[in-house]
Amino acid sequence: MVLWGLMLGILLVATVGYLCLLGLFRQRRPQEPPLDKGSVPWLGHAIAFRKNMFEFLKQMRTKHGDVFTVQLGGQYFTFVMDPLSFGPILKDAQRKLDFVKYAEKLVLKVFGYDVVPGDHRMIHSASAKYLMGDGLKDLNETMLDSLSLVILGPMSQSPDASCWHEDGLFHFCYNALFKAGYLSLFGRTKNKEQDLLQAEELFAQFLKFDRLFPRFVYSLLGPCEWLEVGRLQRLFHKMLSAQHNLEKDGVSNWIAYMLQFLREHGVAPAMQDKFNFMILWVSQGNTGPASFWALLFLLKHPEAMRALREEAARVLGEARLDAGRSCNFKVSALHHSPALDSVMEETLRLKAAPTLLRVVNGDQILKMASGEKYQLRNGDTVALFPYLSVHMDPEIHPDPTAFKYDRFLNPDGSRKVNFYKAGKKIHHYTMPWGSGMSICPGRFLALSELKLFVLLMITHFDLELVDPDTPVPPVDPQRWGFGTTHPSHDVRFRYRLRPPV
Ligand code: HEM
Ligand SMILES: *[C@@H]1O[C@H](CO)[C@@H](O)[C@H](O)[C@H]1NC(C)=O
Repeated sequence: MVLWGLMLGILLVATVGYLCLLGLFRQRRPQEPPLDKGSVPWLGHAIAFRKNMFEFLKQMRTKHGDVFTVQLGGQYFTFVMDPLSFGPILKDAQRKLDFVKYAEKLVLKVFGYDVVPGDHRMIHSASAKYLMGDGLKDLNETMLDSLSLVILGPMSQSPDASCWHEDGLFHFCYNALFKAGYLSLFGRTKNKEQDLLQAEELFAQFLKFDRLFPRFVYSLLGPCEWLEVGRLQRLFHKMLSAQHNLEKDGVSNWIAYMLQFLREHGVAPAMQDKFNFMILWVSQGNTGPASFWALLFLLKHPEAMRALREEAARVLGEARLDAGRSCNFKVSALHHSPALDSVMEETLRLKAAPTLLRVVNGDQILKMASGEKYQLRNGDTVALFPYLSVHMDPEIHPDPTAFKYDRFLNPDGSRKVNFYKAGKKIHHYTMPWGSGMSICPGRFLALSELKLFVLLMITHFDLELVDPDTPVPPVDPQRWGFGTTHPSHDVRFRYRLRPPV
């Protein structure tokens, strides 16, 4: 009898414990944001969220307002939708919202890379040295060389170059940017043809991984896909191995610096390979898709294309070429190109949709711009999705779904930086790069690369859509929250080398 009682007791405790783990008993406490646990235990709203994050968050905002906590796969996420209240979250002077903790887990799962202490700081200091300001000079030049190698070919112009070629625009752009970016950062050899072939092969594998990526992060892969991801991970570790890298010259200072740090901290070679894979992913996963959207918008908006070609003629007139170079301009052409800058900013406003996540480190108060205060719970995650709350806010950007190439230009043609919400000047009026602790350290290189690519394409080629009436395809809904979005399908286009002017 006593034994039975004991067993029942244990069973009861175990069940209650389990249900607590499932988050079933969590109640909204005084001062906490509205809590929406969803109808499925533990999973909460995960299914709707993963299916289409943008639509899901729109619904939640309508239901709960600017702050709310939702359950997603056993974890609680507090979304803050009012951009005027982002300041304290992004500044986080006391380090009570932890970015690194979240990132470490993700990086281990996706790339197999086990972060060394100080690694986040190291990446940012390497980037401050080699991806920004004067340090960017070398990479700028290398990038222009690689882009013209990839686009115009090793011998500059092949005989059939002046015929029309047809391709998928997404595939063409991603392929070009990936190869140029990879060769510029990870190094080249003397054999250009061989380099191009190797980069091409790497890109084919990269695309496979990229397609599985969102569902991999959400742990939604089927058994065969799991095996495939494992195979791809191992392949990348091999193809990017540090050993292999040493045989190349021209590995960028950025990567050389980071690998040296890892070696000095006793990181095993196999782990360095995984680091390389992570770096390949963050440096190549966004720029290609962004260049696709930019060119597509230009093809759909002749007034924008005209404005850029006029600007290009003007700036290139001032920065004429060295003979013998395959493309006919220098990087300095881009020091003053406000129309191109505006096109890039508008493209990223419409198509870059990152999520910013911070783990709540100790119970704390969140102060909103309105003066309201909310209690945040230790261990929860604070999340921002600026695409919905900033990029698509009609008060900040009137007619927010329309592409306006001059949205970021003042009437006098200079760069526009003043945007307002509720009568207040807004600091973060677009956030394609994230912000605060986790801001993208490659953003200057990414912009440079994108601008060089667009300029090369529009000045060296005639471009047209195979079907001029084809609409801009919708965003693949799985891609919300992962940086630059992808289209739900590709768009056919034609290109032809222009006769030299
Ligand atoms: C259009 C192109 C790009 C976009 C939209 C973009 C966007 C972003 C965003 C939103 C993050 C922050 C992620 C987070 O908060 O968790 C990030 C991180 C990062 N990006 Fe980019 N990125 C781009 C291109 C690049 C390029 C070209 C490089 C390097 C050459 C680069 C290097 C990095 C690195 C190293 C991180 C991780 C930083 C850290 O650990 O804090 N990105 N990027
Ligand atoms: C690198 O290129 C970009 C544009 O492509 C330009 O804005 C930037 O000033 C350049 N940086 C250096 C150091 O040349």
